[in-house]
Amino acid sequence: MKAHIVTLPGDGVGPEVTAAAVAVLDAVAAHFDHDFRFEEHPIGGCAIDASGDPLPPASLAACKAADAVLLGAVGGPRWSDPNARVRPEQGLLALRAALGVYANLRPLQVHPALAALSPLKNEKLKHVDVLFVRELTGGAYFGAKTRTSDSASDECRYTVAEVERVVRRAFELARGRRRHVTSVDKANVLETSRLWRSTVQRIAADYPDVKVEHQLVDSMAMLLLTQPSRYDVVVTENLFGDILTDEAAALAGSLGLLPSASLGDGRSGLYEPIHGSAPDIAGQGVANPVGAILSAALLLRHSLSLEREALAVEAAVDRVLSHGPHSRDIGGNAGTAQVRDAVLAALEEDACASVTFLR
Ligand code: NAD
Ligand code: IPM
Ligand code: MN
Repeated sequence: MKAHIVTLPGDGVGPEVTAAAVAVLDAVAAHFDHDFRFEEHPIGGCAIDASGDPLPPASLAACKAADAVLLGAVGGPRWSDPNARVRPEQGLLALRAALGVYANLRPLQVHPALAALSPLKNEKLKHVDVLFVRELTGGAYFGAKTRTSDSASDECRYTVAEVERVVRRAFELARGRRRHVTSVDKANVLETSRLWRSTVQRIAADYPDVKVEHQLVDSMAMLLLTQPSRYDVVVTENLFGDILTDEAAALAGSLGLLPSASLGDGRSGLYEPIHGSAPDIAGQGVANPVGAILSAALLLRHSLSLEREALAVEAAVDRVLSHGPHSRDIGGNAGTAQVRDAVLAALEEDACASVTFLR
């Protein structure tokens, strides 16, 4: 198939991990006979430096026209002055809003070979398989902001329609899994959370085959560590989802491992690892590319409907996590390029095997 993929490498380790993911997509195209066309555009801090705008109009127009968008990361100390007028992160938020990608899927699994890296005891990590569905285009991230010399505010606002569409997506996804939805809120304090909870309760009636439970976000932060294998689909608002998924990444062993898919109602989507620009290791060629590569697998699955190809990439990553080489964040000493090459080699072996099998 033909696909037009826009890449937004961004800042810090963003370009390093995006290059690895593109190499994997190129290999998929070669092995499975597809025609992927890549078009790179600036976003974030590098775009501010070049044009003063963290999301230049040409970058946005290209993303809107693409079959899918693959993003690295934005931000870094260079642009982090709390009094700065413009910030890299504004570009990413504007992009998510403009693409209408309200459902951010962040799958978490713990690879057995990495269980020892987790701060939790190994037995707690068996059977951990959680799909976080984070609302991505509402809440405090997008409400009105005010700032004076002695006060500031961020409005947190949700409409029923905004809650309903992401919650329905979570229930639909649960039907393809273990049919269990945990909705996380702070309904004991926040009005937005009470609207969220009552909307979930109403929608749950349409999914009698799916078990639903409600959990307050503070205790959820604890339960994720004490009983991570209890959870199947976890749906929550923007800010809670941001925080809980970085916590969840610690169970997997590193923030560098987790991918994400941001989806709206169309087929296109925005795919990015959940980690940031990792300024402490940027430019050294040591970033873990697995989160970005697995994001490319999600792109194949969700935007291009190439399930066989997505599974091939995931199997190749699985093999590399089992046998190495491993990057520094997961206890090895391999660089980004070595991990990428190992994934490419695993992909090639598997692809050859499956072609032989098909013949
Ligand atoms: P971060 O995710 O960049 O880094 C946190 C820690 O995880 C660091 O020690 C880093 O080295 C490590 N880490 C992250 N990705 C890694 C990888 N692929 N391989 C190995 N180690 C990895 O979070 P931060 O330091 O809080 O934020 C830095 C900047 O990134 C900020 O400007 C923030 O706004 C931005 N950010 C961007 C995104 C995004 O673009 N989607 C996501 C999160 C943070
Ligand atoms: C993420 C990041 C972003 C977020 C920032 C960079 C705006 O932390 O993708 O998780 O908070 O959504
Ligand atoms: Mn985050």
